Amino acid sequence: MPHRNREGHRKRSLAVFPGSFDPITNGHLDIIGRSLSVFDQVTIAILVNPEKHPLFTVEERVAIIREAFPGEQRVQVDTFSGLLVDYAERVGASVIVRGLRAISDFEFEFQMALMNRRLNPRIETVFMMPAESYSYLSSRLVKEVFQLGGRVSELVPAVVERRLREKYGTGAAVRPPARPPSSKSERGIHSGASAPNSRSERGIHSGASAPNSKSERGIHSRASAPNSKSERGIHSRASVRARRT
Ligand code: PNS
Repeated sequence: MPHRNREGHRKRSLAVFPGSFDPITNGHLDIIGRSLSVFDQVTIAILVNPEKHPLFTVEERVAIIREAFPGEQRVQVDTFSGLLVDYAERVGASVIVRGLRAISDFEFEFQMALMNRRLNPRIETVFMMPAESYSYLSSRLVKEVFQLGGRVSELVPAVVERRLREKYGTGAAVRPPARPPSSKSERGIHSGASAPNSRSERGIHSGASAPNSKSERGIHSRASAPNSKSERGIHSRASVRARRT
């Protein structure tokens, strides 16, 4: 049953989608779209973290995201510092949305969700899975690929590609897109059934095609579950985050 306020009006549900968004990618957009099918409003909350050295300033990230959602009344952009649960409470959100791309995301997200629950049990964390075609996508990879001349146009909104060009200069991203194999023999050139091995073989430039095998999805170095106690417990937050953002 929908929550109603004292006047009997249905209370609008608000979810906070927090992150660094340096820059926002189509994977983020996918999660925001899915959130809008569940919640009335979504606030994209950019963490202001003076310890990080982002490519885009907070102001630039706000402007980029605003441009990526022209006229979308149900999406707001905001910044926050301090505890996420305090921010969520302050803006009247009862839900934090986080995207889960692969198992490699899970451990950090699980820790964060449980810690946030301990800090404020009124705020619930909801995980959403992006389309498989974005399961390998991260802001960090987008920056790296663009900087090295790879094409990112299927991976980020147009405004991000434009801003990346402004940041890095027009020299980047001139590499033509990879041509998808057309003939059967071309497709089978790497011994047909066996999965491709290298990152580039796994289709990192293709964007459009969804990765299928586990190894394809596990592009973040830690595809398999850690074994030892120390492995399970001590990934420093920074290192886990460095892999995922
Ligand atoms: O895009 P990111 O970098 O994965 O987002 C991480 C973010 C911003 C969600 C996380 O670092 C965060 O919530 N920071 C705010 C500080 C806080 O509340 N810490 C306790 C959470 S366990």
